[in-house]
Amino acid sequence: MSKFTTKERFLEVRYRTETICKSLEPEDVSAQPVVFVSPPKWHLAHTTWFFEQFVLSVFNKGYQVYHPDYAYYFNSYYNNIGTRVVRADRGLMTRPTLQEVLSYRSYVNKHMAEFLKKEQPKKIADIIEIGLQHEQQHQELLIYDIKYIFGTQPSFPELDFQIGLISEYAAQTFITIPEGIYQIGYEGEGFCWDNELGQHKVYLNEFQISNRLVTNSEYIEFMESGGYKDFNLWHADGWDFIQKNNIEAPLYWFKIDGEWLHYTLNGLKKIEKALPVSHISFYEAFAFSQWKGMRLPTEFEWEVSSRKFKHGQLWEWTNSAYLPYPNFKTTDGALGEYNGKFMVNQMVLRGGSIASPPNHLRPTYRNFFQPELRWLFSGIRLVK
Ligand code: AVJ
Ligand code: FE
Repeated sequence: MSKFTTKERFLEVRYRTETICKSLEPEDVSAQPVVFVSPPKWHLAHTTWFFEQFVLSVFNKGYQVYHPDYAYYFNSYYNNIGTRVVRADRGLMTRPTLQEVLSYRSYVNKHMAEFLKKEQPKKIADIIEIGLQHEQQHQELLIYDIKYIFGTQPSFPELDFQIGLISEYAAQTFITIPEGIYQIGYEGEGFCWDNELGQHKVYLNEFQISNRLVTNSEYIEFMESGGYKDFNLWHADGWDFIQKNNIEAPLYWFKIDGEWLHYTLNGLKKIEKALPVSHISFYEAFAFSQWKGMRLPTEFEWEVSSRKFKHGQLWEWTNSAYLPYPNFKTTDGALGEYNGKFMVNQMVLRGGSIASPPNHLRPTYRNFFQPELRWLFSGIRLVK
């Protein structure tokens, strides 16, 4: 499939993670400003631990872990593996230092590169692939977390790592999708997550879906016409959330001298009216759709129509709860905790974002987050 060997691909993915972090200072990499953000240093270590835990310690005879306590420090949520530093305390770990974590990465890279000199049987190669896809997911999380750490600094620093630019300008049209029975889920030889498997059919009524995302200009109209003040547009939980947190605009937006600005990884910029609105919660996406007299697509409507529109700039909130597909099978062992146990109280997002790594996405890809989260690169597509 790929023209690269597994070893080359491994080293490339690992290197990209370090490149994202290369302009960060030791102070930056330890910060955890809020519980849903993890310190960049933690991501660097956790993705490394993943290969130690699931590959080297299991399949590489005689492998010695870099440090016996690192499983306790850098296990994220695998109960099958053991107790760990709780999520909210990740930012308290000033040790190991960044230098130490980078040595840990080199140590594991060296052993993995050695291990990958031999072609590995499919069972092992598949777990290595999960490790690489996992690291790519953390590359995107790193960008969200760095943006949050920097975006809450008074000095609004810039990140010296170029992600894509948002560039959607298309005139709006609505694409009609006929009613019918459609096939959902991944089929093919390539990698996919367990949550995309168990192909099954769904019936869809006819619907019309927008060819582009909601723009900043439309969103400002919603704000200025009192969208954040009209409880009739909001879910009960959404209304509570915006009241408690005094939310009246997307995350990273500031009104300065009557003009809307937002923090980006290239510094503070004017809001460009024709570009898609981003950094909104599911609650805000839903309220906006109500105000417009439209609705959000279900994840099935999105999957069926996605061939017909441009996507991949911002993750698109769907109106689908993150649930198992009818034939979902949990992976055996600790990796069974990877996706399945999160299938409650989260919403599905589809598409991908400018922060997503190259060669990571598919039309059947199911991302998922809690409905109040805004630090991800999220946007809104409407259906009528
Ligand atoms: C799929 C992005 C919701 O953020 O926990 C990282 C990715 N899973 N390590 C998450 C993930 C395990 C996951 N999301
Ligand atoms: Fe992880």
